[in-house]
Amino acid sequence: MHRDFLAIPDFSRAELLALFDLAESMRTGRYTRKPLAGKSLAMIFMKSSTRTRVSFEVGAWQLGGHALFLSPRDIQLGRGEPIADTARVLSRYVDGIMIRTFAHSEVEELARYAEVPVINGLTDLLHPCQVLADLLTIRQHLGGWEGKKVAWIGDGNNMANSWINAAYRLGFELALACPEGYDPDPGILARAQQEAKVTVVRDPVEAVRGAHVVNTDVWASMGQEEEQAARARAFAGYTVDRRLMSCAQPNAIFLHCLPAHRGEEVAAEVIDGAQSRVWDEAENRLHVQKAVMAVLMGGESLG
Ligand code: CP
Ligand code: NVA
Repeated sequence: MHRDFLAIPDFSRAELLALFDLAESMRTGRYTRKPLAGKSLAMIFMKSSTRTRVSFEVGAWQLGGHALFLSPRDIQLGRGEPIADTARVLSRYVDGIMIRTFAHSEVEELARYAEVPVINGLTDLLHPCQVLADLLTIRQHLGGWEGKKVAWIGDGNNMANSWINAAYRLGFELALACPEGYDPDPGILARAQQEAKVTVVRDPVEAVRGAHVVNTDVWASMGQEEEQAARARAFAGYTVDRRLMSCAQPNAIFLHCLPAHRGEEVAAEVIDGAQSRVWDEAENRLHVQKAVMAVLMGGESLG
């Protein structure tokens, strides 16, 4: 029986802690096994990617395996072949499927019909691999998230929803500041609020006050390009700049999943400044995804 990784709560709290230990052993180079030897990962990208594509491909190779980049221009999925059929066929060739697409329901459908593990490489709803990398970055720089406050500034998007899922599973405090009309998913929020202190406010200063981690993302995500101008108006005042960072803890770190738009959601002085950890954050995509692949596809256990 295989397991998928579509959302952070697919792992229990104990499993997540073990997954971070495994990822950290990969980050430091202590892990030298090749659990993907002889195995292949299919990577379906219905949207653009730099980090996800390169980190999965390199990660699979470092674990002894091989990855195939599949874009809708090249595979029959782009010409209307059903997701279910694609899932069944790929399962006869490969040992795991990573997919980045629009509707989250498409990833769920792929997972339903695939006979191999499916990994969510971003949907309109969630971006769980990125938030795993962000959590590893917090562990690396702040020693962990216990007793820490994380602030999210901007759009209640796929990243925000995955942060809420992380707070739900791990129990840290999360304060989101989103403009009206750009709130996170209400169901994901309501579930998390039963388990952790997760609040949504309108004022970025209120969310950032006392935070140990300040996080933001683009105002218009992939697929929302035509909303760019309206969103730029709605998000006025939500730029993470030096003034806003000064409301956080003095040693707070700044995170951004990238790609970033300097002068929009973040000022250059912050993303290129001393508190920014965005390059480690990007690197950590490699380590956490290697841990996920080792567990899902390579028989590595989580305790
Ligand atoms: N952060 C992230 O997922 O980047 P890419 O879109 O480049 O994969
Ligand atoms: N919210 C962004 C994240 C990109 C990695 C998007 O979906 O485009």
